[in-house]
Amino acid sequence: MPDAQHTGVEGGVGLTALMVATARAIETHRSDALASDAYAEHFVRAAGASAAWPVRPAEVPDGDANPLWGRLGRYFGLRTRVLDDFLIRSAQEGARQVVLLGAGLDTRAFRLDWPPGQVIYEIDRDGVLEFKRYVLDGLAAIPMATRRPIAVDLRGDWAQSLVSTGFDLTVPTAWLAEGLLLYLPPAAERRLIDTVNRLSADGSTLAFEVKLGTESPEVRDSPVYVATRQQIGVDLLALFDGEPRPDSVGDLRGRGWSTAIHTPFDFARRHGRGPRPEPNDALASNRWVFANKGSR
Ligand SMILES: C[S@@+](CC[C@H](N)C(=O)[O-])C[C@H]1O[C@@H](n2cnc3c(N)ncnc32)[C@H](O)[C@@H]1O
Repeated sequence: MPDAQHTGVEGGVGLTALMVATARAIETHRSDALASDAYAEHFVRAAGASAAWPVRPAEVPDGDANPLWGRLGRYFGLRTRVLDDFLIRSAQEGARQVVLLGAGLDTRAFRLDWPPGQVIYEIDRDGVLEFKRYVLDGLAAIPMATRRPIAVDLRGDWAQSLVSTGFDLTVPTAWLAEGLLLYLPPAAERRLIDTVNRLSADGSTLAFEVKLGTESPEVRDSPVYVATRQQIGVDLLALFDGEPRPDSVGDLRGRGWSTAIHTPFDFARRHGRGPRPEPNDALASNRWVFANKGSR
């Protein structure tokens, strides 16, 4: 398939899917890896935009001191592991459906050890899922669960697409919005939370990533953002939706969900690996939210 057809990952927010896949490829080859994704480097090499990006720690200029593939890369490695654990725990506790919102090049359906009968829905834009299918088919990859990709724009009404693909409203679901909400307009985030609540049976879980408040000019000029622009031409600040963010945690609590909010540094301490706080930190306002509906 020629690169020109990979429009889903070759520009705009689609490039961020390649960026996270690159971080997972590098993480996979670290001696102290927190997560392993053997498929990640194949995505990176298959797309023209990322073909020359590093896929191993030894290929990263300055190693861990590199703000993009070192520090932010470690962040993505930690996030992958924490959310792997969240999904597997939810599945073991009875969530037989997983919905990956903004799934990008996530290969959890292929690389995690799912309980029998697990169904995994992967929602993203058409071009991203088409590129993913092309690479995974080329590898003859076999999912470890029933996998159902759904090409739909999450800014619109996506509930019907999910339900018509077989989603069961009567059983608990584990939902994940990993690296997604920052790119959505506030109205789309509110609708997404409303839809997740409406489609969730008691016992469902949801994990998502948000940024609190507005980042100062010093943070916006910090090494993670500057290096991402300079090294791979991705301007994260331009891709993030600039509108004031909705209070999705408060929204969920108001609908009877219990919530726990963590900084990434909480998990870096727990695992003994991952980014530590630094001055004017682009990661300081990031929060990982874990929510449960009803009794578990
Ligand atoms: C930073 S990537 C994260 C991908 C994946 N969750 C991961 O962590 O590897 C963001 C993903 O959200 C998807 N996305 C952004 N806006 C979207 C929208 N309006 N509808 C569907 N997908 C969207 C992008 O295509 C991209 O794959």
